[in-house]
Amino acid sequence: MALREEGVVPALECRGLSKAYGAGRIVLARLDFTLEPGEFVAIMGDSGVGKSTLLNLIAGLDSADSGEVIIDGSVVSRLDDNAATRLRRQKLGFVFQAFHVLPHLTLAQNVALPLLLNELPTAGALDVLAAVGLSGRGDDFPRQLSGGELQRVAIARALVHRPKLILADEPTGNLDPDTAHDVLGLFRAQSKATGAATIMVTHSEAAAAVADRILILSDGGLHASSARTTFSDSHADSRSIARSADDAR
Ligand SMILES: Nc1ncnc2c1ncn2[C@@H]1O[C@H](COP(=O)(O)OP(=O)(O)OP(=O)(O)O)[C@@H](O)[C@H]1O
Ligand SMILES: [Mg+2]
Repeated sequence: MALREEGVVPALECRGLSKAYGAGRIVLARLDFTLEPGEFVAIMGDSGVGKSTLLNLIAGLDSADSGEVIIDGSVVSRLDDNAATRLRRQKLGFVFQAFHVLPHLTLAQNVALPLLLNELPTAGALDVLAAVGLSGRGDDFPRQLSGGELQRVAIARALVHRPKLILADEPTGNLDPDTAHDVLGLFRAQSKATGAATIMVTHSEAAAAVADRILILSDGGLHASSARTTFSDSHADSRSIARSADDAR
């Protein structure tokens, strides 16, 4: 086990997280997990095993039956509603499995939303859209986009405010291999450029290979995978995302 650097607060800790739906449908059972700043972890596991449930608990979209979620040193359950909302708004970027792009806003407005909510300048939104391959599409509306393009808008929106913790639920599920490779490079580059920690849920072994660690969710807990990670940073367009993220400040 790696020794933690003195004084470095984990980006995320899950302590004893349990969740059941109804009687007997145990999804998570006293799950423990620590994610260091800058670390990129892939979570794999069979459909229905609880991967989205775990991300939803971390993001506060669903509540655990017991256990704690600690984000950047703050025990979320000990915060009042306003403070918990503020913490998530500032520190979390979430790419939902079903995108949740807002239909009545343009792409630029969708991506700028986290900046607006955090009272940050919105000028960088178009650069982050460009970084996911949607240059010049800022005035389009979501209905004009393909599934893979919508997925990339959702990814741009999750990265634009340089969150400390990025949660991505099957972010390459609708992308062709080349676009998926570019998007994975962006996640990795963002994590190196800003120190963000990333959890990516995926069914794709090729996508998981980008991560520093691969964990398998089964029987309510996370287990180390023997699969190797092979991604080379030379593939990541790190300058582009670093520049975009800087411009977004
Ligand atoms: N709101 C809910 N009410 C009842 N059961 C639920 C609810 N949400 C999820 N479940 C159940 O919890 C289990 C885990 O679901 P979850 O969506 O977390 O799976 P997953 O690992 O993300 O699957 P997939 O790979 O298909 O996305 C499933 O059996 C699902 O039916
Ligand atoms: Mg899921």
